[in-house]
Amino acid sequence: VSERSAVQPGAEVLVASNRGPVSYALGEGGELSAKRGGGGLVSGLSTIGADAVWVCSALGDGDREAARRTGGLLDVADTDGQRVRMLDIPADVHAAAYNGVANSVLWFVHHMLYQTPLEPVFDTDFRGQWAAYEAYNAAFASALADSASPGAAVLVQDYHLALVPAMLREVRPDVRIAHFSHTPWAPPEYFAMLPDDVQRQLVLGILGADRANFLTERWARAFTACCERALGPDCTAHWPRHEAPSVVAVPPDRKAHRTRIGVHGLGADAEFLRERSRRPDVEERMAALRGQIGGTDRKTIVRVDRTELSKNIVRGLLAFRRLLADRPEWRERVVHLAFAYPSRQDLAVYRDYTAQVGALAEEINAEYGTAGWQPVVLHVKDDFARSLAAYRLADVALVNPIRDGMNLVAKEVPVVSDAGCALVLSQEAGAWEELGADALTVNPYDVAQTAEALHAALSMPAEERAARTARLAAAATALPPARWFLEQLQALGE
Ligand code: F6P
Repeated sequence: VSERSAVQPGAEVLVASNRGPVSYALGEGGELSAKRGGGGLVSGLSTIGADAVWVCSALGDGDREAARRTGGLLDVADTDGQRVRMLDIPADVHAAAYNGVANSVLWFVHHMLYQTPLEPVFDTDFRGQWAAYEAYNAAFASALADSASPGAAVLVQDYHLALVPAMLREVRPDVRIAHFSHTPWAPPEYFAMLPDDVQRQLVLGILGADRANFLTERWARAFTACCERALGPDCTAHWPRHEAPSVVAVPPDRKAHRTRIGVHGLGADAEFLRERSRRPDVEERMAALRGQIGGTDRKTIVRVDRTELSKNIVRGLLAFRRLLADRPEWRERVVHLAFAYPSRQDLAVYRDYTAQVGALAEEINAEYGTAGWQPVVLHVKDDFARSLAAYRLADVALVNPIRDGMNLVAKEVPVVSDAGCALVLSQEAGAWEELGADALTVNPYDVAQTAEALHAALSMPAEERAARTARLAAAATALPPARWFLEQLQALGE
């Protein structure tokens, strides 16, 4: 495939991430059923093709059983033709690395989610989890080192695997390595919350790659600033005007290494979304949603998120409540379809947040609802066809994250929308940098401003909404997943 020649003719391509494109459920009779994985990372990589091998971890009993039965390399029939190798990492190591370090610490640092009294305490518990994070990364590095053919391109994904590039480079200097961060990157003052040695290990881990890639320049610049702060005189970041930026760092082996910094803003897959959103299952769900919305002249505000603290769902609901309080003309005339799909439920803080979202939706309904009007329709069961149906119906999309690497919902809605949809968008989402000109921009903490933006969006004339939606769709699809991936491979081959 052309992707391969971008690196080196015939070079093998390996992708590594915590979550893979498929997960398995184990039935009572021992039968396995496969389900497509979700999330921005999986969507972005969904087009990598059958020539690349996707190395990921087995995430539950079903996955572990599938990995055991297949010797790790899964049947392509289950994986949309994708070659997937699942690593069976001990469950306690995975839990400490994924829940303890990646999601409770690194996710919180990069999304700046700590608030009193939730600030981290780095003590012996954390040190145990950090050792698991190192072991988890080492397991990936060793699996990649064993399976990569000479000169292979290895594309390591996200904060779960920040140590892999340096670990892999040490044993396999022949392979080309890229790392991609799908999250924001923390500003240096916030990153400095982490223990000093952990900061150094994280940045040196990624700097072990030939290329460190990000979704926006803002996150890339934050990363290079963190490198300089954590490594001091052992590191220099270069941002020349007309060339690719890079970081030169001197790792513990004292051999200076240059890592190029790349910015690749993942876009929506227009072809896939337009075809998928016209299928009968989506039409069926549109009919069901219309029934829930009620009256034909009612407007609809849609949000679709994992139930995730960074997505700011609670403040979104507060803004909707403020709209109903301050602008009574919208009562009975608007419905908020809030799709909030539970995520990371092993963590108490996520469970609490999920409960808070449910309770607030009920409160608003009790406060304002009438016999024929339910102001908030909350759906918590992940259903891609229903999400697409809501995208098609929406008059307004609310995307108000506290911080977000990109946010693909903001990019998908304008592509799929039937009659044009006004976008209320947080200035802290990576997508804002590409879509800000035609969105209604909000500060995610400012509930009053968000309520006013919802009012403006609901009041926007139909022609203006359609014109903005067309421009948003063009910007959102500038770099579709297949080209996004190819661009990274080409850059790695340079
Ligand atoms: O970087 C973001 C990401 O890895 C995306 O794949 C997705 O949005 C989310 O995090 C998935 O999180 P998890 O794998 O913990 O469910």
